[in-house]
Amino acid sequence: VFIGPGALGVQAGEGRRFAVSDETVSGLHAGRVPGLAGLVEIPAGEEHKTLATAERVWRALAAQGVTRADTIVALGGGVVGDLAAFCAATYQRGIPVVQAPTTLVAQVDSAYGGKTGVDLPEAKNYVGAYHQPAEVLADTATLSTLPPEEHAAGYTEVVKTALIAGGQLWERVAAGHPVSEVDIVACARTKLAIVAADERDGGRRQVLNLGHTVGHALETVTGYHRLRHGEAVGLGLLAALRLSGRDDLRAQVAELLSAAGLPTAIEDVDAEAVVAATARDKKRLAGSTPWVLVDGPGDVVHGAAVDADDVLAAVRELAE
Ligand SMILES: NC(=O)c1ccc[n+]([C@@H]2O[C@H](COP(=O)([O-])OP(=O)(O)OC[C@H]3O[C@@H](n4cnc5c(N)ncnc54)[C@H](O)[C@@H]3O)[C@@H](O)[C@H]2O)c1
Repeated sequence: VFIGPGALGVQAGEGRRFAVSDETVSGLHAGRVPGLAGLVEIPAGEEHKTLATAERVWRALAAQGVTRADTIVALGGGVVGDLAAFCAATYQRGIPVVQAPTTLVAQVDSAYGGKTGVDLPEAKNYVGAYHQPAEVLADTATLSTLPPEEHAAGYTEVVKTALIAGGQLWERVAAGHPVSEVDIVACARTKLAIVAADERDGGRRQVLNLGHTVGHALETVTGYHRLRHGEAVGLGLLAALRLSGRDDLRAQVAELLSAAGLPTAIEDVDAEAVVAATARDKKRLAGSTPWVLVDGPGDVVHGAAVDADDVLAAVRELAE
């Protein structure tokens, strides 16, 4: 894992290197990747994280004569990272992928851990595979072109990771400092340590879902277009802290989110529909939805049971 300005210049991967990028990132940053043998462009946006786009990528790779001796470079945010790595996992039954994340979300979270996939009309991230990247090149210089609202979306994941990690990362985040390279490295280390202990999400990895149960439910109920993912997860973090009985931490996190321009409340949302949507969470295997709760920074538990009435109260509070 290379993190820092200029990381895209590292010659990572075996054989020829073929980049997959979206139309926005490609124009801005593909020139920073030396020695590319080819480039496949996909349209930007979550709505293109589909099997139809994956098929376009597979066919473009075939047309360019990509073989198992070559490497895919996934250059972009989490959408490109998930989709290009899914294509790499499945093209000729699997070729190596190098993750080259260009959003804050991707540099602190999605580029590590090997979860790849696409969305179905029925649900997000419902088809995929585990495929660990051969290398990760997180070039922090690429963040200079990131729009502020995308930066804010990534900030939510930084706050989430700091709550999980505790310690110095939490202290820096709680002090309200802007996200630095040191924080990006700390987030990457936190996620990698968790994934190394539980690659396939059988237990501890579920703590990374902190804030996502209510977050995903809010996204579903509001039709995926009213809230950005990072905004929804920020609201989800507030609900999770209420359910954890940590009112002090909830107030502190609300202040941090608000200072970053993120919402801490949402109007006109049907709280009961949100609670119903949490019951359809992908993490639920049988019985009730498992919750990730916070006893304190650095002390996060998964698999907790929570009363539906308490969930309803925590969601209603967001709608006030
Ligand atoms: N695999 C995982 O473990 C994991 C973890 C978290 C999130 N995700 C996935 O990540 C996705 C969200 O990632 P995202 O927020 O990076 O979204 P994204 O890839 O859609 O990027 C957001 C927008 O920013 C643009 N962009 C990217 N880099 C840029 C740059 N440097 N300068 C200017 N514009 C740039 C993109 O073109 C896009 O329009 C979701 O699909 C989510 O499911 C995956």
